[in-house]
Amino acid sequence: MALKYSKEVEENFMNPKNLGEMKNPSGVGKIGNPACGDIMHLYIKVNSDEVITDIKFKTFGCAAAIATSSMITQMAKGKKVSEAGKIKTDKIAKSLKGLPPIKVHCASMAAQALGLAIEDYEKRKSI
Ligand code: FES
Repeated sequence: MALKYSKEVEENFMNPKNLGEMKNPSGVGKIGNPACGDIMHLYIKVNSDEVITDIKFKTFGCAAAIATSSMITQMAKGKKVSEAGKIKTDKIAKSLKGLPPIKVHCASMAAQALGLAIEDYEKRKSI
């Protein structure tokens, strides 16, 4: 049976925002889900005020994985790193007007990818 997605999910899947790679990112988050085989790469550029000025993603995955990647990049862009780090699974799902229960892990992967990119940024900064 086909899954029922919200208009927001469809829109972000058909027309994803911030898709692509980034040269010289401030941080990179890479995550894969062994159960479904999907992979996400998320790149952030952070300025001296700790603001995420640019963000890009590359996702090999299902429609919800692409839609949640697109949504999290829009939610995080322009935010301070500390604020962006608070974007969790439920906030992404809410911004997409809900996800089918078996697709909630796709939003969780997007949140983890951003968390890892921020962690990578913090690590690079301390070197
Ligand atoms: S089915 Fe695994 S990320 Fe979507």
